[in-house]
Amino acid sequence: MNLKDALAGRRSVRRYADRPVGRELIAFLLEAAETAPSAGNLRAREYYVLLRPELKQALSAAAFGQEHVASAPVVIVVCADPAQSGRRYGDRGQLYSIQDAASATTCLLLAAFDLGLGSCWTGAFDESMVREILNLPRRLVPTAIVPIGWPNEWPAPPLGRDMTEAVHWIEG
Ligand SMILES: Cc1cc2nc3c(=O)[nH]c(=O)nc-3n(C[C@H](O)[C@H](O)[C@H](O)COP(=O)(O)O)c2cc1C
Repeated sequence: MNLKDALAGRRSVRRYADRPVGRELIAFLLEAAETAPSAGNLRAREYYVLLRPELKQALSAAAFGQEHVASAPVVIVVCADPAQSGRRYGDRGQLYSIQDAASATTCLLLAAFDLGLGSCWTGAFDESMVREILNLPRRLVPTAIVPIGWPNEWPAPPLGRDMTEAVHWIEG
């Protein structure tokens, strides 16, 4: 798939077929995530991969009952490591680590789409619950829960917006 098609075609998919996702595909997705740019190449991000139904169910509860988190065959939680960036970049490193995690999440979603998988960036969750469920070290901040599975829905693209609302040209 070319990049243009991937960018245009990727959608948030929240319904998945009852079919497992092979470990080799999960490994490919994690490698794709790691191709993302990162500040100073510090890669201040880590990934938790969940396959166990009880844990996915608990994460779904932490995500205020979002059902797609429980029903996906695989859930990857992307975490930022602010202290790692902070050691080199001070306060600015906090922001960089979140950006490192976000850029990895974007690559993960695009790679999933390229493989024919559906995924959904899920950011609405109770951080302290997620910390407890995953037994996260204190240094890590969970930034995105990403359920992944073979699609069972093909959502239409959301409404776009007039780019003049968002783009500011400074010329001359
Ligand atoms: C930071 C962030 C947080 C999001 N949180 C959620 C969420 O908690 N639940 C959900 O269903 N979708 C969530 N989404 C997905 C958006 O709803 C979705 O990307 C948007 O509606 C555009 O649709 P598309 O991804 O199909 O282009 C989130 C996306 C981002 C980038």
